[in-house]
Amino acid sequence: MNDKIILAIESSCDETAAAVVVNGRKVLSNIISSQIETHKKFGGVVPEVASRKHIEAINIVVEEALEKANISKNDLDAIAVTYGPGLVGALLVGLQYAKGLAYALGKPLIGVNHIEGHISANFIDHLDLEPPFICLVVSGGHTFIVYVKDYGDFEIIGETRDDAAGEAYDKVARALGLGYPGGPKIDKISKQGNANAIKFPKANFHDDTLDFSFSGVKSAVLNYLNKMEMKKEEINVADVAASFQKAVVEVLTDNVIKTCKIRKVDKIAIAGGVASNSALRENLIKEGSKRGIKVLFPSPILCTDNAAMIGSAAYFEFIKGNVSTMDINAKPNLRLGER
Ligand code: KG4
Ligand code: ZN
Repeated sequence: MNDKIILAIESSCDETAAAVVVNGRKVLSNIISSQIETHKKFGGVVPEVASRKHIEAINIVVEEALEKANISKNDLDAIAVTYGPGLVGALLVGLQYAKGLAYALGKPLIGVNHIEGHISANFIDHLDLEPPFICLVVSGGHTFIVYVKDYGDFEIIGETRDDAAGEAYDKVARALGLGYPGGPKIDKISKQGNANAIKFPKANFHDDTLDFSFSGVKSAVLNYLNKMEMKKEEINVADVAASFQKAVVEVLTDNVIKTCKIRKVDKIAIAGGVASNSALRENLIKEGSKRGIKVLFPSPILCTDNAAMIGSAAYFEFIKGNVSTMDINAKPNLRLGER
């Protein structure tokens, strides 16, 4: 089979990204223009601002991706783009741009689910990775345990019932005065803290579910901070961060290991922004190795929102003949596995 060269575009949240990917695994370029500095002053992503910033950046980012890959538009086999889930205005910028380009070039268009993209980041960094495996998707907007049965064939085993893991990190970091985005800040400061200093509740449901809940532990941290302030006692930020992180990491690890046992799978791949978390990586490797389970992570640049992962997911759809029509619309609440 000839090589398939895909230009991928991602604009679902606060990163405008474009990449050129060959056969779903080889990245020729991966350009990311982050809006973090713009949103920092608001303490989170402002949707309207995000849309405007995407409009400003998209053409530059796409041209740079093609130039860096040394690929002309005519060499492309398809244009891939994230069409959900995400912020509707942000998604529309990438989608309209991709539609215009695909139409002008007469190339196929492939709409990609952002979460499938995160999962596919693992195919880029682990060339021999093949389904089936269990994927833990942990980002600012999503927390899922997914059984990846085959390429493009997913079953959701567990998910959050309230806040996403990254969202809980961001909210706790904000309460601790650590700034946005909070995940990396908590990760860093936790290294100087005692994770056993404060006992925050682990999100365990009483039924047999493998679902998560992070709002309980987040509220417990906020209550603890309020109580300490009222008593005028000094708050040890590193201890609070480390203790919060322990509660989150333990429940993520427990549930994903349980899933491997139930599904008799010995491979775990992690995906999404929180997959960069050092405590989560260490704990999963430790618990996995005790049980003969291999744990894989993408490199940090592929954990965060990027377009290379979209190009990878698109390839596996493309070779199955799954392309989109020009009336494809943005789907802010697109579920995994839904078309
Ligand atoms: O996947 P991503 O870049 O964007 C979404 O699709 O949401 O994930 C961003 C999230 C943010 O909540 C950020 O705080 C979190 O990932 N994050 C981390 C770390 N790096 C990023 N959380 C914990 N530890 C980290 N090292
Ligand atoms: Zn994401």
